[in-house]
Amino acid sequence: MRLVTEPIMSYVCISCKHGYAVQDGIIVAWPKTMGELAQEEAHYHDEFDENAADVHQLTTYRNKFYHDSIHDSIRKHPRGRALEVGAGSSGTEAEHVLRHHQVVETDISPDTLKRLRGNLSQTPEAFVAVDGEHIPFEKASFDIVYMVATFHHFEHPEVALAEFARVLKPGGLLVMGIEPNTTYFRPIKYLRGLLCRMTHMNPHEGSKADALMEGFTYNKLRRLLQNPQWSGYTIRPMWLIAGFMHYILEFLYRAFKMKKRISLPKGLEKNIVRLDEFLFSIPGCKHLCWHWIITANRSKE
Ligand SMILES: C[S@@+](CC[C@H](N)C(=O)[O-])C[C@H]1O[C@@H](n2cnc3c(N)ncnc32)[C@H](O)[C@@H]1O
Repeated sequence: MRLVTEPIMSYVCISCKHGYAVQDGIIVAWPKTMGELAQEEAHYHDEFDENAADVHQLTTYRNKFYHDSIHDSIRKHPRGRALEVGAGSSGTEAEHVLRHHQVVETDISPDTLKRLRGNLSQTPEAFVAVDGEHIPFEKASFDIVYMVATFHHFEHPEVALAEFARVLKPGGLLVMGIEPNTTYFRPIKYLRGLLCRMTHMNPHEGSKADALMEGFTYNKLRRLLQNPQWSGYTIRPMWLIAGFMHYILEFLYRAFKMKKRISLPKGLEKNIVRLDEFLFSIPGCKHLCWHWIITANRSKE
């Protein structure tokens, strides 16, 4: 798919001549047959939106420290064309990346992209509804592919990863931020019913992919990335004590139906993050992190 014209009602790709519907300025480039989970995700995220900054406490130091590291790795990559996958509606990442690169914003849900467009202060190249397992762009179209909290939404992560490799140019950068660690999220998945009762949460709240996912172990990520398509990779652990703190605070907020989420002094958060970073330097401790941040480079073949 090559985006050259201003789409109005429908869009025809100038290279493959494939036609795509355009809904209110959003190009809908879903595959002809889309997996069941992807369809559910599109439906769920069309219907429901959340204030990511509030729900995930994105302005806290414990989050900013790691989000900044994601933005830094993208900023440091030579200026080029980036693809955001599973962009969501908040624009948290897009606002940073758009300062340095040309960006195509994608998500499985067209309505999410409409909300994203309303929240952005800068203009990306296009908004395209895309299934990350079937990306409708040509081989080597992008210098950067990035996503936050999205990789665990795929039914077949290995298929999505192969698509990211296909659309990246040789030497291109892949960044996948804030991916859950199986150590905690597998037990949480099985305790979900109980946790929902304790926190007065409707068990149907959240998307099906969120309810089904178990996250990734370090070894699973390593196996996925140990592939000739990738020339090098990093799998960085995020939050150990900070994770317990984050989820206990969230539990209290929900269980006691508090009006506002509890915020901690920045100095305390800084020290906890420093302590976590120290703990991660101890062999084996990384497996106790709550999330992973992954970067990889496309091989130069
Ligand atoms: C947890 S949200 C993260 C949104 C945003 N990146 C953020 O950090 O706030 C996951 C996003 O992935 C999108 N998504 C789910 N399945 C997808 C798929 N198969 N292809 C592309 N996007 C998908 C959802 O619509 C949703 O917006």
